[in-house]
Formats: sequence, C-alpha cells, structure tokens
Amino acid sequence: MGKPTFYITTPIYYPNDKLHIGHAYTTVAADALARYKRLRGYDVMYLTGTDEHGLKIQQRAEKAGQEPLAYLDDIIAWIRDLWDRLDISYDDFIRTTEPRHTRVVEEIFERLIDQGDIYLGQYEGWYCTPCESFWSERELVDGKCPDCGREVQYVQEESYFFRMSKYVDRLLAYYEEHPEFIQPESRKNEMINNFIKPGLQDLCVSRTSFDWGIHVRRNPKHVVYVWLDALTNYITALGYLSEDADKRDRFHRYWPADVHFVGKDIVRFHVIYWPIILMALGLPLPRQVYGHGFFMMKDGKMSKSKGNVIDPKLLIERYGSDAIRYYLLREIPFGQDGVFTPESLLQRLNFDLANDFGNLVHRTAAMLGRFNGGVIPQPGLRQRLEEDLVKLAAETIPQVEDAMDSLQFSVALEHIWRLVRAANKYIDESAPWALNKAGERERLGTVLYTMCEAIRVASILVQPFLPRAAATIHARFQLSPDETSWESTRRFGALAAGKRVEAGEPLFPRLDVAAEVEALAAATQATQGAGVQAGGAAASAAVSEAGAVAATAGHAQVSGRTMARAESGQSHVDKDGGSPMSETQVQVKPQIGIDVFDQVELTVGQIRVAERIEGADKLLRLEVDLGSEVRQVVSGIAQYYQPEELVGQKAVVVTNLKPVKLRGVQSNGMILCASEGNQLKLVSVPDSIPNGAVVK
Ligand code: ME8
Ligand code: MG
Repeated sequence: MGKPTFYITTPIYYPNDKLHIGHAYTTVAADALARYKRLRGYDVMYLTGTDEHGLKIQQRAEKAGQEPLAYLDDIIAWIRDLWDRLDISYDDFIRTTEPRHTRVVEEIFERLIDQGDIYLGQYEGWYCTPCESFWSERELVDGKCPDCGREVQYVQEESYFFRMSKYVDRLLAYYEEHPEFIQPESRKNEMINNFIKPGLQDLCVSRTSFDWGIHVRRNPKHVVYVWLDALTNYITALGYLSEDADKRDRFHRYWPADVHFVGKDIVRFHVIYWPIILMALGLPLPRQVYGHGFFMMKDGKMSKSKGNVIDPKLLIERYGSDAIRYYLLREIPFGQDGVFTPESLLQRLNFDLANDFGNLVHRTAAMLGRFNGGVIPQPGLRQRLEEDLVKLAAETIPQVEDAMDSLQFSVALEHIWRLVRAANKYIDESAPWALNKAGERERLGTVLYTMCEAIRVASILVQPFLPRAAATIHARFQLSPDETSWESTRRFGALAAGKRVEAGEPLFPRLDVAAEVEALAAATQATQGAGVQAGGAAASAAVSEAGAVAATAGHAQVSGRTMARAESGQSHVDKDGGSPMSETQVQVKPQIGIDVFDQVELTVGQIRVAERIEGADKLLRLEVDLGSEVRQVVSGIAQYYQPEELVGQKAVVVTNLKPVKLRGVQSNGMILCASEGNQLKLVSVPDSIPNGAVVK
C-alpha cells in the first residue's frame, strides 16, 4: 500500500504585475497545509503557477513594449524567486503558456464541441478586463463591474458558448450531497442566491477581438476564454490527456483535488464553472474549494492595479520568511478578512516570535551551556511541574491536528503558543538557576531536559509555519529523523540525552517598532506613487486606536450584491459604512461557553512603575511584574489614581490581549478595574497571592 495522497492547489496568478502580500497569503497557507500533510505521512502534490493568457496580459505586454512571452518570462522568474524566498515547497509550477497545458486545452475544447456542450453563437454584453469576466446589463452596478467597480467594455462578437444550464441541477445536487465542498459555509449561500437562483446563463467561452491565448483548433480566429483555459490547469498539470503514460498515471494518482485554495473573489469560478466543466468531461469533482478572506490595507483593498501594496520581497528581506509566514497565518482567522498593518506585523514578531518562541530556545541553550556544558542531561523523576507540562503537550497535539485538519491555521498557532508560553513559565517556576546554585544536580538535569524536550515538541509543531526556525533548532539540537517526526511529539521523553546543543544567535531579533513602521510606510508610499489609481468600488477599512478593525469592505460606496458578498463573514462590521459601534449603545452581551471564557488569560501582577504619558491626560504607563516577566501596560486610569498610589499594588491583568499602541506607547495587556459611580478602581487581589498566579 502506498501512502495516501493529498492534492492541493493555489490559484494560478495573473502575471500582469508583481505579486503582493495577498497572493503570498494564499500560497503560504497552502504551503503550511502541504508541509503539515507531508509530516502526517501523505504523498502530497502541491501545485501553483501562473495564468498567462487573456486580454489583460496582452495589454500589459504592449504597454511594456514587449512581446507577451518575453514580458512574461521576466515576471515569472520574479514570482518563482518570491516563492523560493518564502520557502514555498510546491511540487509543480504550471504556466498556461506551456505546451503540456495548451495542447490539452485545445483538445478539451474540441471534445466539448463534439459532444454538444459547447456551441457557436453571438455574444452581446459587457466585459471586465481586469477580472476577465462577462456581465449582463442587469448585473452591472452603476454601469461598472460588480466585482471590482471598474469600467467595463461592450462586446459584440461571434462566440462559443458553454451550455452551463444543462448542468445546474447536478451541480446543486452535488452541493447538497457534499456540504464540505464549498468552505467556509457562508460562501455557498452567496453562490446559490446570487448566481444560480437568478438563472445560470450559458457562459461565453471564446473571444475573437484579440489574439493572446489558446486558439480553437477548428476555428482559430477564436481564442479560448481565459477562465476556461486557466481552470483546466488543475488537471493539465497532473498530465490529464497526456501522451505520456507516466504523466497520465500522475493524473489518476492525484485527481480529484483534495482542496483548491482560492480567495473569496474567485470562488464563483471554482464552484460553478469548474465543476460543470469537470462534469462535462466526466471527471470527478474536487473535494473542497476553500475561499479565504482578503487582506486589506488601511486605505482599502490591496491590489496590483491600485498600487497600495507592500512588496513581499522587501518584508522577507527585512524580517525573514518565517516571520512573514507566521504573521499571515496567525493574524487573521482563515476564511475572514483582515487588515495588514506594519504595527500588527511588528508586534507579532516582537511578542510571539522574539519574546515567546525565540526566547524559549535562546534561554534554554544558554542555561544548558552555563549549567551543563551545553549537553542535554539525563532526566530524573518528573515532579508536578513536569507532569503539568507533559500533560499540556499531550493535549496540545490533538488540538493542533484538529485545527490543521479544519484549516484553522490561526487556531493551530494559538494552541502551539499556549505550549510555548507554558514552557517559558515552566522555566520561571522550576528556576534552574536556583537549582544550580543549590547544587541540586539531579533535579537540575530533569528541568534542563524537560526544557529541551518542550522545544523539540514545539519545533515539530511549528514546522509547517516556520520551516527555517524548525530546521535551525533541529540542527542545533542534533535531532535525528526519529526525534523530528510528527508521531514523536506524542512521546515526551523521546529526546536522547547526551547531545551537545549549539547556542547560536537568537532565532528572531527584537525590533524597534517605531523605526520599522516608519521604514515600511516610506516603502509603501514609494510603491503607491508608481501605481495606477482605480476608481469605483474601493473597499475602505479603518483601524481604530485600539487596533480593532472598525470597518472592512466598504459597502457604503457601492450598492448591490458585490459588497454584500465582500462583507460576508464580518460579524463585527456595522451596517452603515463602518463606524465602530457607539459606546453609549446598551450592550447585552451574549452568553458564552467556558471555552470562550477560557481564551482570556488573566494573571496576577504587581505594579512596579507608574507614570504619566505626555500629552495624554487619561493614560498611565505601568510596568507590571508578572513573576516571569515585567510587562508594559497602558491604562486609562490617570484620572482616578496618582501614579505613586499605584506602585506596589496588586492587580489582575489580561495578559493575552493583542498588543496595541496608545499615544505611541505600546500596551501589552489590560488591568481590570471596576466602576464605582464615575470612578474606576483596580480590582484588588490579596497580597499573599504571588505575581504570575493565574486567575480563573
Ligand atoms: O484571479 N488578500 O489571479 P489573480 C488575500 N488568474 N488574497 C489575495 C489578495 C488579498 N488582498 N489579493 C489576491 C486570478 N489574493 C486568476 C486565477 S485560478 C484558475 C485563476 C489571492 O492574480 C487570492 O488567492 O487576480 C485571490 O483569489 C488570488 O490572489 C487572485 O489572483
Ligand atoms: Mg484578481
């Protein structure tokens, strides 16, 4: 028996320009899943590539004064270099200009004409070149493309049509029988209500007014519609209809795809046209199409043509590929929209990567060096502290697996980071420095070993996300393949003692947030100047001072179904164009389960420093001793307390709140207060409770 297979794809991107962080998002997500599946023993086929035909590309090449292929070769080289720098482990890269693709598309087209699924007719209607989509008059919104809000062109020409209507019932039945086919769930209703229910028209599948594409064999003045051309990449890349028997075997091995990752903008093509094409070819349908959300910029939707994009290569060069991968998958729940901000990126890097993960590795290697000559000691008997950590690790693994299997990357990372933070806390509580001082060698050995073991387990769990950091740890700890397999995470204690660990540089350096934010703003502006301004349906997004997304897709500007679609999955967006909910509004909070409450980390701390913040009469900057660390927290209690009154007081701190910047000062938590009339009072804690105690 061979390994089970797993076939995953990204969209094939338009190389009409350099790609941006949004394209990197899909590709990194697919890469994390591909790596995870390989770790779990699957024979993975991970496909990405480029969609190189169509009017849009022809126009771009003309503008650049180049032949399309010469123009494309440069950009494709740039794209492949981007994926290399991001450590994208794709197994194949398809270009739709390759003969392995064009020949098969020609053949498919012939076959579909022969069997009557494609017929010749006359098209009259509108065309959006940036989206490469046909629209009827009634679908336009204010005379513009309902998807992107840009100008559309009137088209009147002889065209081939695909008899979509013939397959609608079978398509709906497929949705019904395979509830997991369209994910997230909410996108399915959009598709049915907006596109299928109003009546699915036959799709125009050829153009005669330009040349750059695959020509219809029997009628070469027709160029195959770029979406029909593009979608078939998922089977041509596998060797469908290949003349080579080995390649055809590849097709039989991997088809149907396990999942097509796409952005929500192109779900429609993948869940309506693509399955119908496959039905017409008599092929099985993909198991799932996952339409993830969009990354926006503060000023709206990021787009190559709008020019408000940050060059992903610049980010990788500055912060490293692991950091960008981590940020993309940690910041936004997969499926939802979110805003890319340099601030949130840097906070993630400083807190999660440098403080939590990097520091765990660094301090462990340092203590191993100081207390045991850099060698992993034999452990003695486990005590309660070890048992707790081992138990948490054992719980974490299935949680990470569940999250990965349901494509909830941010949730998987949350679970992993709970373990990482617990390992740091374990070090604080077991105090190896004190054991060393007291000469308790056996206990010290147990603690140092447990620290190393926690790192080994974490390094395997993070591997899909942080392949470089994982490889570095594996090399520094000289781990064998057996000690780095996924299964070995279930064996806490599998690490062989006696190896010498190399200390090395910190995995993630701590960065100066203000300086980096400035540098990135300058870099974006440089790109912005070069861009083309798009009119129409620019989605707007605002980020409030507290860092929460106050509004995403700006449906205020454009009415109609497009914006309703852009908004789905956004529960926190209000209806009138996105002002945050008014504070005076009475809020009755819904009931929550213990699992939701459990997500809040509450810790007892002692205020060590309290001072006013210049120019802010409500805010105080506090340094709170949490036992294992001293945290800076900005608190809005300046009107109720003199700073010196607070020093020495115990308080309850929300310690897993997203960091935010208030008046330029970073706040890494929140102090709990209760209101008394119009005053606020710290929620008090008896002095006997140690700093770092968990509140639950
Ligand atoms: O649509 N946030 O190519 P394309 C998240 N060639 N993801 C984003 C994004 C953003 N801001 N911007 C782009 C095409 N993406 C066709 C595909 S497939 C047979 C043909 C990602 O270059 C997301 O995956 O316009 C989106 O669906 C895709 O890039 C669109 O890439
Ligand atoms: Mg696009």
